[in-house]
Amino acid sequence: MTQSRRYSGVAMLLHWLIAVAVIVNWRLAEAAENAVRSDAIAYMANHKATGITILALTLVRLAWRLVHRPPPLRDGMAAWEKALSRTVHIAFYILLVALPLIGWAAESYEGHTVDIWGLFTLPALPVGENEALSHTLEEIHGTGGTVMLALIALHIIGMLKHMFIDKDGNLWRMLPVGQPRG
Ligand code: HEM
Ligand code: HEM
Repeated sequence: MTQSRRYSGVAMLLHWLIAVAVIVNWRLAEAAENAVRSDAIAYMANHKATGITILALTLVRLAWRLVHRPPPLRDGMAAWEKALSRTVHIAFYILLVALPLIGWAAESYEGHTVDIWGLFTLPALPVGENEALSHTLEEIHGTGGTVMLALIALHIIGMLKHMFIDKDGNLWRMLPVGQPRG
C-alpha cells in the first residue's frame, strides 16, 4: 500500500489560512507603528482580533494534527534535514500559541478587554493591573514576532531548496496539486 505523501485537505486549508493571517497581522502591527494615533488604534484593534483568530485556528490545527498524523517525510532526507524541519515546525506552533497569549496578557495587565470585530469581547485575564509588566510582555511579544519572521524566511528557503535543488516536490505536500516524491 502506498502511503499518501500529502497533508489532508483540512490541514492544507488551515496551514494557508494561518500563513496569510500571520503575514497580514505582521503588516498591521507595522502599519500601526508608522501611523498617526487614531489610525494606529484602528490598526491595533484589527491586529488583536486577527491574532486571537490565529490562536483559535492554531488550536483547531493542533487538535486535527493529533488525530490525523502528517505524511511521512521523504525517505532519502538527511537526519539533519528532518531534525531542522521538525524544530522549525515545533517552534512555529509554540509561537502561534504563545504570541497571541502574551499579547492578550499584555492587554490584560493594562486592564483592557479585546474586542473581536464587534462580534464579541474577550475579557481581560484575571491578573490585575501592572503597567510595567505589560510593557515587558509587549517587548517579549515584539521579539517573538521578529523570531517568527526569521522562521518564516527559513521555512521558505527550506521549501525552495527542496523544490529546486532536491527536486522532491516538497511544496506539493501542502497543496492539492503536483506530485510530491516519496
Ligand atoms: C507565513 C507563515 C507560515 C507558517 C506559520 C507556517 C507553518 C507551517 C507549519 C507549522 C508546518 C508543519 C505542518 C505540520 O506538520 O503540522 C508547515 C508545513 C509546510 N509549509 Fe508552512 N507556514 C507558513 C508559510 C508557508 C509558506 C509561505 C510556504 C510556501 C511558500 C509554506 C510551505 C509549507 C510546506 C510545503 C509545508 C510541508 C512541509 C513538509 O512536511 O515537508 N509555508 N508550515
Ligand atoms: C500570532 C499572532 C500575532 C503575531 C504574529 C503578532 C506579531 C506582532 C508584531 C510583529 C508586533 C510588532 C512588534 C514591534 O514592532 O515591536 C506586534 C505588536 C503588538 N501586538 Fe501582536 N501579534 C500577534 C497577536 C497579538 C494579540 C492576540 C494581541 C493582543 C490581544 C497583540 C497585541 C500587540 C500589541 C499591544 C503590540 C504593540 C506592542 C508595542 O507597542 O511594542 N498581538 N505583534
